[in-house]
Amino acid sequence: MAHITPQQVLDGFHYRASTRSYDPTRKISPEDFNYILELGRLSPSSVGSEPWQFLVIQNQELRQKLKPVSWGMATQIDDASHVIAILAKKNARYDSAFLKDSMIRRGLVNEEQQAFALEKYRKFQTEDTHIAQSEQSLFDWASKQTYIALANMLTGAALVGIDSCPIEGFDYVAVNKILAETGAFDPNEWGVSVMATFGYRAKEIKPKARKTLEEIVTWIE
Ligand SMILES: Cc1cc2nc3c(=O)[nH]c(=O)nc-3n(C[C@H](O)[C@H](O)[C@H](O)COP(=O)(O)O)c2cc1C
Repeated sequence: MAHITPQQVLDGFHYRASTRSYDPTRKISPEDFNYILELGRLSPSSVGSEPWQFLVIQNQELRQKLKPVSWGMATQIDDASHVIAILAKKNARYDSAFLKDSMIRRGLVNEEQQAFALEKYRKFQTEDTHIAQSEQSLFDWASKQTYIALANMLTGAALVGIDSCPIEGFDYVAVNKILAETGAFDPNEWGVSVMATFGYRAKEIKPKARKTLEEIVTWIE
């Protein structure tokens, strides 16, 4: 591939800003939105589990239902070109059919390879990270992976001049209920991890406030 420069990437990172008001007249083209979804799809995930689904919420009635229980995007949900909810897999335990499918997808097709991977996942989930014992921990593990997809989508959007805002400001029980009622997913298998809005900023956003590198980096040499 032709590489872009560090400065070009940094410019994109500076351009990305959580956008609280969108220009209602500007919509993201299907090609560009597909590009953003593709960035989610191509994101890395622990043991290649890909424990995500992306709901693209374009139905205005549904957005209006979500609005009163989504304070974090109340100023965005009407005008955003696209709104997504990222779902995380529940119960992606080491011995689940879901993780077995991910092994097969990555070419671990014979029984010996699968048994080897299964033992590795068992140790990882029960002895190293202790997540297999609790449904909440397994969901949180899957949710962590979805945040990687989220970040890639937000930054990748900014690199091509598309604005966004990550959204955690909502009532999780209410939003899960409203979205599950659409029939888009089985709430026993999936839960909303995080949401995001996309579009084009309606006005300039002031430059970022960030800690300095000195405040956050410790080198151990
Ligand atoms: C996981 C996550 C959830 C967030 N939830 C909201 C939200 O619900 N509503 C909102 O307006 N901003 C939300 N933000 C945006 C943050 O406030 C913002 O990223 C932070 O203030 C830094 O500003 P910047 O993104 O413009 O650099 C969220 C950010 C992250 C990473």
